[in-house]
Amino acid sequence: MPESTKVNENKAKIVVVGSFIADITSFVPRFPREGETVIGSMLKTGPGGKGSNSATAINRAGGSAVMITKTGRDTLSEICLNHYKEEGMDSRYVYTSDTVATGAAIIEVNENTGENRIIVMMGANLDLLPEEVRAAESEFESCRAVLVQMETNLDAVKEAITLAKKHNKLVVCNPAPARQVPDGLFRGVDYFTPNETEAEYFSGIPVKTTEDAFTAGRELLKLGVKNVIITLGKDGAALVNSKNEIIIPTTDLLPVDTTGAGDAFNGGLTVALSEGMDIITAIRFANCVASISVTRKGVSPSMPTRREADTLFDEYYGKNS
Ligand code: ATP
Ligand code: RIB
Repeated sequence: MPESTKVNENKAKIVVVGSFIADITSFVPRFPREGETVIGSMLKTGPGGKGSNSATAINRAGGSAVMITKTGRDTLSEICLNHYKEEGMDSRYVYTSDTVATGAAIIEVNENTGENRIIVMMGANLDLLPEEVRAAESEFESCRAVLVQMETNLDAVKEAITLAKKHNKLVVCNPAPARQVPDGLFRGVDYFTPNETEAEYFSGIPVKTTEDAFTAGRELLKLGVKNVIITLGKDGAALVNSKNEIIIPTTDLLPVDTTGAGDAFNGGLTVALSEGMDIITAIRFANCVASISVTRKGVSPSMPTRREADTLFDEYYGKNS
């Protein structure tokens, strides 16, 4: 097991089956009430989507992401392909739909708090087919871990989990956004990573306190997952498994735009676990990746490099943690 976070000679290949979404974000002094118009200060259009954000975080944090996703045949898809090219990401499994548009999100960010509100149209992500995931089976065979979210056709997600288990790979599942899923979808997942809202959705337990997070975590273990990690925004993350019920605090960096914090966390976590870090160190590393991302505007482009994450890790958790 590595003694520090700095083990990166051998890039871990990680398969991400997830969404690409073109994000259209307006920064506002406060959120408008229904029927009200508020004057915004800035509009940003750029690459987003939970899968793609996490894949970007993975690549920048020292892993090598193989992205399996689907776009439309339209101008928004160019944002996706250009981004993957600029990042040097593997885009061999970016499929194109002839009939459905690229996914898009309308995002509002409160520039005083960094908090957001999002409407997402999943578009072509809902058209990703299980057989298109299966076409990448050799990648599942040769990777170290597989990461999925719920912003994609759930049959494709199911296929990804099945292939990962078939090849004995680590599965990280971020059940976001919360939506109804087929029975048993999460069985066998190694790391289940909801935020507070998703933890409530899948456990039925509102998560307002630390004790609530532990109670919800215990309930979520009954889905057949091995570890539950509930992300708690500025309060870090709660880990619940058969041995632990603990909170792992995050850093005190000031947020500017929290959009994609969960995606950054999942990308960082998957890289860390793939490199063999123990679970507590991996969550600390994920906290560092996520908390740097919230200090920057934009979503995929706000993901930090490995060097930035390592530096913050040393500053915040100490070189010897
Ligand atoms: P999103 O849906 O916007 O992607 P989320 O709700 O899924 O976000 P959160 O639980 O808000 O995710 O945050 C994920 C992680 O990001 C946290 O566990 C923490 O590590 C980091 N984080 C979030 N907000 C802050 C903050 N204000 N300061 C420091 N770290 C933060
Ligand atoms: O998690 C943040 C992402 O969710 C944004 O990039 C947006 O695309 C939404 O789907």
